[in-house]
Amino acid sequence: MKNTTLSGSRSNLAGDEEEETWLHAWGLITSFAVSMTLKAAIELGLFDALSNAGGRALTADELAAGLPAVDKTDGVASVDRILRLLASFDVVRCLTETGAHGETIRQYTPAPVCRWLAINHGGSSLAPYAMFTTDQDCLTAWQQLGAAVEGGQTAFGRTHGVTMVEHFGRTPRLSGVFDKAMVQISAMVTSKLLERFHGFDDISVLVDVGGGTGATLKMVTSTYKHIRGINFDLPYAISLAPSIPGVEHIAGNMFDYVPSGDAVLLKTVLHILDDNDCIRLLKNCHGALSDKGRLIAVEFVLPGTPEVTRAAQNLFILDVMMLNNSEGGKERTEEEFLKLARQSGFSGTFQSTYIFGNFWALEFTK
Ligand SMILES: C[S@@+](CC[C@H](N)C(=O)[O-])C[C@H]1O[C@@H](n2cnc3c(N)ncnc32)[C@H](O)[C@@H]1O
Repeated sequence: MKNTTLSGSRSNLAGDEEEETWLHAWGLITSFAVSMTLKAAIELGLFDALSNAGGRALTADELAAGLPAVDKTDGVASVDRILRLLASFDVVRCLTETGAHGETIRQYTPAPVCRWLAINHGGSSLAPYAMFTTDQDCLTAWQQLGAAVEGGQTAFGRTHGVTMVEHFGRTPRLSGVFDKAMVQISAMVTSKLLERFHGFDDISVLVDVGGGTGATLKMVTSTYKHIRGINFDLPYAISLAPSIPGVEHIAGNMFDYVPSGDAVLLKTVLHILDDNDCIRLLKNCHGALSDKGRLIAVEFVLPGTPEVTRAAQNLFILDVMMLNNSEGGKERTEEEFLKLARQSGFSGTFQSTYIFGNFWALEFTK
């Protein structure tokens, strides 16, 4: 057999700017494949299987054995290639050994991030959010982002002929995928809000404007038993709301009025609105509050300058997702939120508290 020698080393790449930037560009261009491979791994239940293995490392063979109707040879090789890619992004960990015949045997364990990608680990999961962002209807809209910059309609609107909200109305499949994602994220954020934010102590009546079916108020009033909750949303959302002890459901349009209370909660509502609608809503919140009343907005908050950090990248991706999908929706900086509040009459104190995962609680007084 002919001897083969490899010349050069991959470590030569370090410090070679031409090649570093080439690889950076290549990685950016193909990063969608990571999202899509994650989606496939979620669909195949690989993260659940790894998380439920009790710390034992599993081979692709063992993982494929648990999958329905996998063609043995092809299936095992495909599972191995999927996990090998995910190992290179630290989604799973890979142990390699040399087998009896000199072959490489790979075994996989979950990396810490898998706690958010498995579905059945009991806590909150981002797997439903992965299914929404990679849904066919969402992905096709991205093709139109460049064209949509010219104005007129969002990329989603150009692609589907209607707004995302209207599309949800006629596509129960997609709205179901979206709802599952939002339920998980909202529960996680609310549990962290209750741990880290202490502005609920002195509230008697809390109005959750755009509170959906009341899940947030259910959690708040379970912790703060002295609070009476008013869950305010559109008639469609209220018609689906279960009865919750200590919470009154009121159906209405927040651009017409907001029910009175001594604090108003707006959780991830402002980011779906353009600046004019934010001001219309905030003025109604101002009118609903007594002189000592407070507005608590729970929102993503953008940094003033785009930093090269995972947290900032997640936020700017979210903002461009809003640009792609939402008529007028956008993420904002703290200064932008404060300016909107001041324009709506909130001339008192302003306080911000970091919550979790890029969410902040922003408190404004009259
Ligand atoms: C992004 S969701 C936020 C839901 C909830 N606050 C949470 O954090 O999960 C926006 C909510 O605002 C509600 N909404 C939209 N337009 C509204 C309006 N004009 N009046 C009242 N609620 C509205 C929607 O029905 C939805 O429940």
